[in-house]
Amino acid sequence: MDIVARIKELKKQRNAVILAHNYQNPEVQDVADFCGDSLGLSRQAAETDADVIVFCGVSFMAETAKILSPEKIVLLPEKMAGCPMADMIDANQLRELKARHPKAKVVCYVNSSAEVKAESDCCCTSANVVDVIKAMGPGEIIFVPDRNLGSWAAKQVGRELILWDGFCLTHHRLRPEDVEAAKAAHPEAPVVVHPECRPEVVDIADVVTSTEGMVRFAKQTEADDILIGTEMGMIHRLKREVPEKNFYLIHPGLICPNMKMTTLDKLAQSLETLTPQIEVPEDIRLRAKEALDRMLAI
Ligand code: 13P
Ligand code: SF4
Repeated sequence: MDIVARIKELKKQRNAVILAHNYQNPEVQDVADFCGDSLGLSRQAAETDADVIVFCGVSFMAETAKILSPEKIVLLPEKMAGCPMADMIDANQLRELKARHPKAKVVCYVNSSAEVKAESDCCCTSANVVDVIKAMGPGEIIFVPDRNLGSWAAKQVGRELILWDGFCLTHHRLRPEDVEAAKAAHPEAPVVVHPECRPEVVDIADVVTSTEGMVRFAKQTEADDILIGTEMGMIHRLKREVPEKNFYLIHPGLICPNMKMTTLDKLAQSLETLTPQIEVPEDIRLRAKEALDRMLAI
């Protein structure tokens, strides 16, 4: 039996659902039941009636699934797949920051640990950050851990945020001169970038949006050529959804090594052995869930 057929068979036996982030390897995206951005994936994780959720992504995504669906088995086929940006703040550091701003509300990007979510008032993703900040009302807001997403959102909403100094190593590789060079090669093509990019890059882009927002934009724009400034896995998803258009990755170094750790072999093995399972201590889970529920309600 080939590996894809084996995964499909195991999936049936386990009553499992396979969720994959848009940055996953093409063959992993193709075998998944649902492919999407962090917001879409967390909605799927909250709503599925499968017994097992196999998360093809990085650890904070699988943790989010476990927080929302504690009664389910949540598998992360490659247990070392983490998010370096999420690791840039821990719960102690956030508690210290909160102590310095005792009246501030805390919004945390979903790219964060369960412990950091548990210390936060509300989570957000790149798709809903503006709505979440607006919903926080007046007063100080601490935003962790991504300073780039935070400063882009602050500009959109027209208010200041207290930013943590975290960033995504992958998106930081993209520089304004790369965007200018890509524009010179494809002058008609709109520039679409993720808000995790540097402010100097975001400032010269035509569209700044989440990975799923990129799919929506590609479907509705009249442009045939589109320049993409996010992780390279996105190109496969875009080509699959909108095959008649051309997508150009602005920089060849836009690769998230952690997102590339999941392979079909590891996925099959994970379904077969029901490991590695993600667990979140119940006291942390309950507090983190409040922050996630608030986001999902918004
Ligand atoms: P999206 O929620 O836009 O898919 O982004 C997740 C992520 O990790 C970006 O680096
Ligand atoms: Fe984390 Fe960046 Fe990878 Fe997204 S692309 S998972 S933010 S390291």
